[in-house]
Parts: sequence; C-alpha cells; structure tokens
Amino acid sequence: MPEHAIEAAATSASRTSPDHSRRGFFRRAAVLLVGSPLAVGFTALTATFLAWFLGSVRFMFPNVLIEPPLRFRVGKLENYEPGKVETKYTDRFGVWIVRGEFQGKPQIYVLRAVCTHLGCTPIWLESEQKFKCPCHGSGFHKDGMHFEGPAPRPLERFAIRVADDDQLEVDKSRTFRQELGEWEDPDSFVPV
Ligand code: FES
Repeated sequence: MPEHAIEAAATSASRTSPDHSRRGFFRRAAVLLVGSPLAVGFTALTATFLAWFLGSVRFMFPNVLIEPPLRFRVGKLENYEPGKVETKYTDRFGVWIVRGEFQGKPQIYVLRAVCTHLGCTPIWLESEQKFKCPCHGSGFHKDGMHFEGPAPRPLERFAIRVADDDQLEVDKSRTFRQELGEWEDPDSFVPV
C-alpha cells in the first residue's frame, strides 16, 4: 500500500475513535453552555435572582440606630453633692447634671454638652471649675455662662423635674436659653 494511503487510513481511524468523539462532545457542550444565547439568558436570570435574594435578606435586617431616650431618670436629688458637676451621663446622653446656683439661687440643672460656637463637646475641668471647649478654646463657668473664646452665648439647659418616684427626670426635647430669659422658666431647674 502506498505511504499516503496508509496515513489517510490512520487519520480516518483516529477521527472515529471513542476518545475523539468524547472530546468533541465536551467541546460542543462547552460552547453551548458558555457562548449560546441560552447560557447568557440563564446567567442573567441567575444574577437577577441572586440580587433580589440578597436585597430581601438586607431588607429583613435593616440598619437600626438605637438612640438614647429623650426622657430619662438620673437618680434622686440627695445623690447630688452641692457644687458638683456630674459627668457620668455625658457620653450616653450628652448632658451634665449640676447642683450649683445661678444668680444666687441654689438649684439643680442640666446643661447640654454642646459648645455654642460650632458644636464641639467641651470638657469639664474639675481643678479649674470650668467647661473648656477643645476646638477653639471657649470657656464656660459651672452655671453655663460663657466667659472666654469665640462662643457667642451660654450653654443651653434641658428641662428637669422631680418625677413621681422622687427621681430627677431629664427631658431633652425641651431646651432653655439664658440669653432669651428662659432660665427663669421653672422647668429649666429644680430648686434645692
Ligand atoms: S466649637 Fe467650641 S470653641 Fe469652637
């Protein structure tokens, strides 16, 4: 048999071997799965379903910001030493409870821990008996009056009252500003 006839026979035999036909099958399947319009549609459908599913799960677990209540109790009046600034409610509620005096009248009042310049949180300096704002240096006396720095007005007060159980109750939904004469309001302090 001539040499070229032998080669042709060998090629034909290899094309029809089981191994060759299996490879062909997988190649055709891969083309069908990856490149066909059916595969593209299926992928898009899966992606849409996945996005919907993840959105639904996210909806079931929304971001919940737990804000501290606007009204809260801070213990009985006798727990507050005369002349003391209580700072333990500052981090959670943003207030100082002060048993001090204003214009010669002893009282307990609640100062809002927000500087009246640009809103930073001042720090109570016990040794200097003043609130000092770390941002631009405003200073406030224990009664909330401003005396140094750029703050244009005193600190604000929140409402305070003695509740039914004899505890002091702070109400942050109501504020009182000294420059508007609102510190005369009996809801802005508790006399002691
Ligand atoms: S924010 Fe307090 S001094 Fe500016």
